Amino acid sequence: MAATFSRCFTLALFMVTLMVSPSSSLANMNVIDKCWRGNPLWRSERQQLAKCSVGFAGKMINNIGKDIEKYKVTDLFDDPLSPKSGTLCYGTTMIKGKVWITFKNNMTITLQRPLLLSSFTAIDGRGIDVHITGAGCLLVYQAADIIIHGLRIHHCKAQPPSIVMGPNAKVIPLGRMDGDAIRLVTARKVWIDHNTLYECQDGLLDVTRGSTNVTVSNNWFRNQDKVMLLGHDDGHLRDKNMMVTVIFNHFGPNCNQRMPR
Ligand SMILES: *[C@@H]1O[C@H](CO)[C@@H](O)[C@H](O)[C@H]1NC(C)=O
Ligand SMILES: *[C@@H]1O[C@H](CO)[C@@H](O)[C@H](O)[C@H]1NC(C)=O
Repeated sequence: MAATFSRCFTLALFMVTLMVSPSSSLANMNVIDKCWRGNPLWRSERQQLAKCSVGFAGKMINNIGKDIEKYKVTDLFDDPLSPKSGTLCYGTTMIKGKVWITFKNNMTITLQRPLLLSSFTAIDGRGIDVHITGAGCLLVYQAADIIIHGLRIHHCKAQPPSIVMGPNAKVIPLGRMDGDAIRLVTARKVWIDHNTLYECQDGLLDVTRGSTNVTVSNNWFRNQDKVMLLGHDDGHLRDKNMMVTVIFNHFGPNCNQRMPR
């Protein structure tokens, strides 16, 4: 009895020590996390994240600078054809140039159609619980310089061909979407970090059709049969140049195949 008690006490003390000692937690962080999480002021210096990427995406320096627009999502509503200011879709499609998107509150955004991301877009869900679900979900099509960070994307469903608002406020027709959490099609320089992806209709992440210079880091993939696809057809010769870094991710529980394929 006394021995058990003292062992529990030692363990509790050890856990408290771990929680209060910033130097030991910093030592446990990987090179990406140390870069921004090591800064106690990261909430007010969010753009610092752009320089923390590693691997083939390179540093995301094209996402920052004086000409950046800071945009806050305040409205969880999704109208994919005429997005209102305050919605996520407005931030990813209607704003030209560099945009850094954050969220006002915890929210669940249920997409009515797949969400297209414009070049020079950073979505930053740090410090808040943002769930994205519904039709789609995220699509990077012929775009570059994109950061997707700190989102929970799940229960994404297939979508038949549809018309959506696209980059630079242009309405575009989309083909069928299989229901992946994130899909990259002819995309370049994309950093996907610290997202939690699970239970989608098709897969969690597809990188296809000449996409390259992608880093997939610190994500948690779970509860999915087909997890990650890098190139999907031997006939697509452009995929010979595909360069993707996959690092510091966690797979499982309940992942079955393509980790990655
Ligand atoms: C892709 O990454 C490689 C290796 O880091 C680099 O040499 C190249 O310039 C990058 N290409 C683009 C288009 O960003
Ligand atoms: C967001 O949700 C988390 C738990 O899911 C909770 O701990 C946190 O307090 C919430 N934050 C806000 C601002 O409501």
